[in-house]
Amino acid sequence: MGGLETRGLVFTGPRRRLEIEGLELDPPGEGEVLVRMLASGVCHSDLHVVDGEWERPSDVVLGHEGAAIVEALGPGVQGLRENDLVVLAWTAPCEACRACRRNQPWLCTQPLGDGHRLKEEDVRLRRPDGTPIGAYSGIGTFGERQVVAASAAIPVDPNTPPEIAALIGCGVTTGIGAVVNTAGVRAGESVVVIGLGGVGLSAVMGATLAEARTIVALDTNQAKLELARQAGVTDATTDPAEVDALTDGGADHVIEAIGLTSTVEMAIDLVRPGGTVTLVGMTPQGERASFDVYRLVEEGKQIRGSNYGSATPAVDFPRIARLYADGRLPLDLLVTETIGLEDVNRALGALRRGDGARRVVVY
Ligand code: APR
Ligand code: ZN
Repeated sequence: MGGLETRGLVFTGPRRRLEIEGLELDPPGEGEVLVRMLASGVCHSDLHVVDGEWERPSDVVLGHEGAAIVEALGPGVQGLRENDLVVLAWTAPCEACRACRRNQPWLCTQPLGDGHRLKEEDVRLRRPDGTPIGAYSGIGTFGERQVVAASAAIPVDPNTPPEIAALIGCGVTTGIGAVVNTAGVRAGESVVVIGLGGVGLSAVMGATLAEARTIVALDTNQAKLELARQAGVTDATTDPAEVDALTDGGADHVIEAIGLTSTVEMAIDLVRPGGTVTLVGMTPQGERASFDVYRLVEEGKQIRGSNYGSATPAVDFPRIARLYADGRLPLDLLVTETIGLEDVNRALGALRRGDGARRVVVY
């Protein structure tokens, strides 16, 4: 076929090891760019797919939290140059659907690269025998090179370390955005964050940025509580019964960053009357949580879902990179270990056990 040779870590079905394969890549088409990956985080959303909790097509190169260098521009691409450092967005808005027209790109119903590029006309990646291979969320960041929609490649400060830039592509923006954009936390308020993975720790940093007065972190893992202290919480505990006293009778905001029905229900209990619960963590598909309707209504509580931190990547990615450069976001705390592509299966195992914040592939 004569495409550009590359390698990627391929998902071939639930509960199977990801394997590195040699692949061939087409040149970028209209409105697309060829990128060389610099780094990719291993996020819990990759694990949901590998564990079969979220149904996704196969075979695809997995990974959706990455930073890359632009190597070539397809026809008609504007606003990007070769050698730009870009953070890849896992949703490239169509800019035509109702959500996009409402300026809510995270709710886009027709994102470019949707279906993980398994539609014949969208496939850019193949096995040497010609079988089409998708790119997860249109970006497949566990691939050494990819062809992506130009609107998914967001230029940021070129001095941003690649592993930090990668995390901005998902966990960091999701966590900070949940607090700043979705919840709209204001100076002086109290915030409880349940679950201190890459997303929850970023939510803590978002609460610091928003000048919350009280920030309480909850996790079952002691090591995570220590990381949360470094990220700027006022209190960190494994015991939800302490939250009431720590927040003077209930938090203004509770952020759930795990995706368990038990902690979703806990979040609704921990927020003060009139307060807001923001749900970031995603459960396996199809799960339902319950709450006391009478009390929720009587106490005027609100529940919000936050997808991708209600962020607009083209605006929020460069802004977060600048805040990092200004020393206002201690994102280095999130990088537990840098690894190679061959270590991703092990990194997924660590994520299953709640061990460490983020492991980041550096190419
Ligand atoms: N109570 C408190 N903390 C818990 C509990 C529990 N019952 N169970 C797990 N945790 C903690 C873990 O110790 C870990 O610190 O929740 C954290 C989850 O972190 P990660 O697995 O690293 O997940 P992350 O990548 O941050 O994503 C969190 O957001 O976008 C979604 O799909 C993503 O559902 C996932 C969630
Ligand atoms: Zn993610």
